[in-house]
Amino acid sequence: MTPMLELDGIESGYGETRVLGGVNATVDEGEVVALVGRNGVGKTTTLRTILGSVEPWAGTVTYRGEDITDLGDVETVQRGIGLVPEERRIFPGLTVTENLELASYGGSETENRRDLDWVFDTFENLDERRENRGSDLSGGEQQMLAIARALVSGADLLMLDEPTEGLAPMIVDRVMEVIEDVRDAGITVLLVEQNVRVALDLADRAYVLAHGEIVHEATPEELRADEETVERYLGVSFAD
Ligand SMILES: Nc1ncnc2c1ncn2[C@@H]1O[C@H](COP(=O)(O)OP(=O)(O)OP(=O)(O)O)[C@@H](O)[C@H]1O
Ligand SMILES: [Mg+2]
Repeated sequence: MTPMLELDGIESGYGETRVLGGVNATVDEGEVVALVGRNGVGKTTTLRTILGSVEPWAGTVTYRGEDITDLGDVETVQRGIGLVPEERRIFPGLTVTENLELASYGGSETENRRDLDWVFDTFENLDERRENRGSDLSGGEQQMLAIARALVSGADLLMLDEPTEGLAPMIVDRVMEVIEDVRDAGITVLLVEQNVRVALDLADRAYVLAHGEIVHEATPEELRADEETVERYLGVSFAD
């Protein structure tokens, strides 16, 4: 089977600074794939390079068999790839409904494109908050809105950058449920997480990024059992 997304030898960075030194990875349709690694290893840079907001120095990005390496972010989004950035970037002065309506104007005409009714049926928290402004939402609700917005724009491959960052544990669980709902709706997910437990709970497969390369690929079960890799590259321990 041809992967939905394939990164082949991706090198990338900023100015003179190399961040990625040859990243190889694949994502199959329907999978939840986690990309984990310590602070500053280049997880966000990887997502930006896929999106086309950062131009790779070398290597290719292939999406559904098409070489999209040289496409900018607008064209990439039109292909059906969505990124929910760490900062979420919702419009604070607009209501939940208005934020979603705005997102529904652009994006891509994919099969998975969702309408507002689907969002409000699926994301109860947002349904209750339809008429509230972005600035009135909690961190968790803002994250849900940012995810919903990408789906309304037609993301078939949803890239999430640290969706649970800064959220209280109960809200983390709620956002995880939302990501499961998204997966169950047939949307493929590439998940970047600092919270390794969250990443491994959600993912079918995980890549570990270190020194600008993928140093390890494993199932969550394998990674949980591999204390050495987890401590060395992720700085966490599951031995408790
Ligand atoms: N716009 C930028 N200009 C210059 N350097 C950058 C820029 N963005 C990131 N960097 C640097 O590139 C490296 C990789 O950053 P990146 O944000 O991709 O890492 P990350 O794995 O997402 O880290 P974090 O866990 O902190 O989110 C870091 O050293 C960072 O300081
Ligand atoms: Mg990051």
